[in-house]
Amino acid sequence: MIVTAKIEEVRAVRKQDKDENWGFVPTMGYLHEGHLSLVRRAREENGRVAVSIYVNPTQFAPTEDLASYPRDLERDLALLEAENVDLVFTPSDEMMYPPDFQTAVLLSHVTKPLEGAARPTHFAGVATVVAKLFNIVQPDRAYFGQKDAQQTVVLRQMVRDLNFNLELIVCPIVREPDGLAMSSRNKYLNPDERKAALVLSRALQWARIAFEEGERDANTLRRIMTDLIIAEPLARLAYVSAAHPETLVELERIEDKALLSMAVFIGKTRLIDNLIIA
Ligand code: PAJ
Repeated sequence: MIVTAKIEEVRAVRKQDKDENWGFVPTMGYLHEGHLSLVRRAREENGRVAVSIYVNPTQFAPTEDLASYPRDLERDLALLEAENVDLVFTPSDEMMYPPDFQTAVLLSHVTKPLEGAARPTHFAGVATVVAKLFNIVQPDRAYFGQKDAQQTVVLRQMVRDLNFNLELIVCPIVREPDGLAMSSRNKYLNPDERKAALVLSRALQWARIAFEEGERDANTLRRIMTDLIIAEPLARLAYVSAAHPETLVELERIEDKALLSMAVFIGKTRLIDNLIIA
């Protein structure tokens, strides 16, 4: 496994191996089974696998947890080595954003609601860094988790709009046995908060059951999720949504399928979760 912080070295490896298909998994590190599920899928589908580990400062607002974002490079590299990853790219901030850096990738409609409403600069940071990583690694396939549903919609749109020559593949949410979606931020939860955090997946399941029993009114589904979350004393609701899975526009009636999603503060920790019903 080659581990490098150098863009030129990534390019050199990529050039040597240009007859192989490259699968690519961008991450911010502190890897868990959710990340590793993407790595395994990439391993199955490609001759070569690259992973990036980079806590991208431009996708964090000044009030967010950039400084405290968990990091453990040594452990991450051991996990990736065990998955037979070929190349790990670990750039520095200076290399990704030199002092004269001036470019941003901005998308319009799909970045406005949901996460974008609460975090107005977030998706510009994500799209810009992922565009850079795509240009550095030049993968044939890139793997993202459904956990960050809006991120997949935004990046799919970017790939289409900017003609990136790659296939974007979205992998299912990996959960703890009790249903909590795996996230690097779960580590911030104390034992009581960890229990309270189950309210996200439970609310999604309650809405799913109502949908399966025939409920098609999106307001009712949003209400079911909201009621459950506000009943949990350690939880503070940021938003719940029942939206079109591709446009992210809020639905009135669910004719076909819907993306149910939410952001909830458990104590100081902001968690997200989602489920597609169809
Ligand atoms: P990060 O939060 O490290 O996540 C890296 C990838 O792992 C993302 O595609 C994310 O959706 C996926 N992932 C996280 N938790 C998951 C889970 N429980 N199940 C399945 N997949 C999961 O997302 C980012 O980093 C960054 O925004 C990035 C794309 C790397 C750009 O900086």
